[in-house]
Amino acid sequence: MAVLVTGGAGYIGSHTCVELLNEGEQLIIVDNFSNSKPEVLDQIRTITGKDFLFYKADLLDREAIRKIFAENAVESVIHFAGLKAVGESVSLPLWYYHNNITGTLILCEEMQRAGVKRMVFSSSATVYGMNNPVPYREDMPTSATNPYGWTKVMIEQILKDLYTADPSFSISILRYFNPVGAHESGLIGEDPNGIPNNLTPYIAKVAKGELSKLTVYGDDYDTEDGTGVRDYIHVVDLAQGHLSALKKLRTETGVSIYNLGSGKGYSVLEVVKAYEEASGRPVPYVIGPRRAGDIASCYADPEKAKRELHWQAQKSLYDMCRDSWRFTEKK
Ligand code: NAD
Ligand code: UD1
Repeated sequence: MAVLVTGGAGYIGSHTCVELLNEGEQLIIVDNFSNSKPEVLDQIRTITGKDFLFYKADLLDREAIRKIFAENAVESVIHFAGLKAVGESVSLPLWYYHNNITGTLILCEEMQRAGVKRMVFSSSATVYGMNNPVPYREDMPTSATNPYGWTKVMIEQILKDLYTADPSFSISILRYFNPVGAHESGLIGEDPNGIPNNLTPYIAKVAKGELSKLTVYGDDYDTEDGTGVRDYIHVVDLAQGHLSALKKLRTETGVSIYNLGSGKGYSVLEVVKAYEEASGRPVPYVIGPRRAGDIASCYADPEKAKRELHWQAQKSLYDMCRDSWRFTEKK
């Protein structure tokens, strides 16, 4: 029996595939490479020394997805595939709703048709919106400020409704905080096209000399040094969280929601300092205006995952910066 990983060639998916193969799981990856490269698949094989099945397919292509379930004994699905750029989702909302929501609907329908009832879904801390107090707990109300965020809120609801209608499903909704870092081999990591939107990929390019300086989006927030505070989590810790969720899915039915974060917040300037230390390179910055849609602080209450999944983040901010730099240097 195999685990089907959608979006397995992507950033978080590829790291999770490495951990699954290391655990001896049989794997099938499906990806359309809309935001990843085929080379990643070879890197996964190199790191693990193990093989897996791969289908180049789009979740919107129902026939292709049906064929995957028909040809394989799939036991569970880890569903990463989706578009994730906040700014792009504002300019292309219909494309985001179609890809993320229709893609998930087709996947769930084909799972149900094939009798596959276990799913781990990639949600995001973005569903906590702008108005909840930190630390965020799983039972707080959800909302969003952009179409990307709404796709996560809506898919969470769809999955809860699916379970209500068919209680033989077992679904784990994982709300990631800020995934950063790379595999320690330096062979896989986050490699966005063009100028990065997110903090650590941007810093990595500044440290490498590909961009001249970082703009810090605001230093007048109500935080210790005035810059934004986030809960950064090493992507390998995050990947291992999926294994813990999968283990639990296999023992019960239901829908459970878990924060995957460290529970600790770091400011933009603390991240800059850690990256300079880990890379041995300067990261020049200027203070700019706040970015629309940003909040002062965002960090998890990670207790539920600790209690029920027996999982907690292990790696430090220094580890995240060191591994991000190792990957960046190799590129
Ligand atoms: P990513 O873009 O690196 O990976 C997503 C993968 O899905 C890509 O390889 C892409 O080619 C594939 N894909 C997209 N649409 C597809 C489709 N219709 N059919 C088949 N393949 C498709 O992103 P990531 O950072 O690895 O994120 C994985 C998931 O986690 C996403 O759902 C994302 O929204 C969610 N998430 C990410 C973050 C983050 O900061 N990276 C935070 C919270 C949640
Ligand atoms: C952003 C998205 C969020 C998404 C998450 C996924 C926005 C408004 N939010 O969150 O929906 O789930 O990415 O990774 O886009 N910063 C700078 N300079 C930069 C880049 C970032 O100062 O060039 C600051 C930001 O203001 C923030 C922190 O760094 O305080 C982290 O930013 P980022 O990596 O973009 O993540 P989020 O804002 O948490």
